[in-house]
Amino acid sequence: TEIKLFCPATIANLSCGFDVLGLCLDNAGDEMIVRKVEQKGVRITKIIGADLPLETDKNVAGVAALAMLATLEVDCGFEIEIYKHIKAGSGIGSSAASAAGAVFGINELLGKPYSRKDLVQFAMQGEKLASGNAHADNVAPALLGGFTLVRSYHPLDIIRIDSPEELFATVVHPQIELKTSDARSVLKQTVSLKSAIMQWGNVGGLIAGLYTKDYDLIGRSLHDEIVEPLRSVLIPGFDLIKQTALENGALGSGISGSGPSIFALSRGKNTADQIAKAMSDVYEKMNLPYEIHVSKIN
Ligand code: HSE
Repeated sequence: TEIKLFCPATIANLSCGFDVLGLCLDNAGDEMIVRKVEQKGVRITKIIGADLPLETDKNVAGVAALAMLATLEVDCGFEIEIYKHIKAGSGIGSSAASAAGAVFGINELLGKPYSRKDLVQFAMQGEKLASGNAHADNVAPALLGGFTLVRSYHPLDIIRIDSPEELFATVVHPQIELKTSDARSVLKQTVSLKSAIMQWGNVGGLIAGLYTKDYDLIGRSLHDEIVEPLRSVLIPGFDLIKQTALENGALGSGISGSGPSIFALSRGKNTADQIAKAMSDVYEKMNLPYEIHVSKIN
C-alpha cells in the first residue's frame, strides 16, 4: 500500500508572529509517495528535484519519520519518494513540507494513530535537523492547513485560526538561497519592552482581524518591529518590493519565514495578481531571477 501526497509550501512568521504564526499555500508545494513495506525501518528511496541526502538520519523527512515511529510499535517499514518543487533556503517551508509529508503519510498508512496536531511534534524534529531549531510555524500550517498559531512550545499548543475567504498571498522568491540557520544567527536574543508591546499588540490585532474578516485590521497588524529590520538587509530589493506591494493594494507585506522570499497578503485574487505583476517588474528591472506564486490561503 502506498499514498501519494501534495506537501504544501507555507509562509511562517507573517511579520508580527516570529516562530508562532504560519499559513498554508494551496498551489505551491512538493509531492511525495510514502509506501508501507515489510522490511522494517525508514528508507528514502528517491529524491527528484533537489540535491538532498538519501540517508534517513540526515534527511528531514527521514528524521521526522523516525521520531514518529520511535513512539509506536509497528512491524512494518516505510519507503519515501520525494519530488521537490520548493527550493531549499527559499523561505516557504521546503524542509517543513518534507517533514510534514513524511509523518502525515505514515500516519495515514497506519490507520491514523495520531491526530494532525499530534504529528506536529514529530515533523518539528525534521526542522531541527534542517535549521538547528525545532520551530513549528511551518510544519503546523503544512499539516493543519490555513492559518495556525503556536500558542506555546512547552508544552506544545497549536491552534488553527479561521481566516476570511478572500484572503490571498503573493510570494516572490529572488533566486538566492538563505539558510534559516544563517538568518537566525543575525537575530538578537533580547527585545525591548517597547518593541514587545508593539509586537504583541499586532499579533492580537492580526488574529482578531482574521476572525472578524476585518481586512483593514489585518493590514494594520502586519508589522514587524523585531526581526524584519535585522533580516531585510540580507534580501535583495526588499524595501522596494515591499513598497511596491503596498502601492498595489497589499494589506501588508514582509519576509516569508526566514527569507529570502517576500510575501504580500491581499483581498481578492485580482489584487494578488496585480501585486505579482508589479513585484515581477521590480526584479526584471534589477535583472534578478525570481519565482512568483499567487495562492489562496487554505
Ligand atoms: N520562524 C522561522 C524563522 C521560520 O523565521 O527562523 C523559518 O522558516
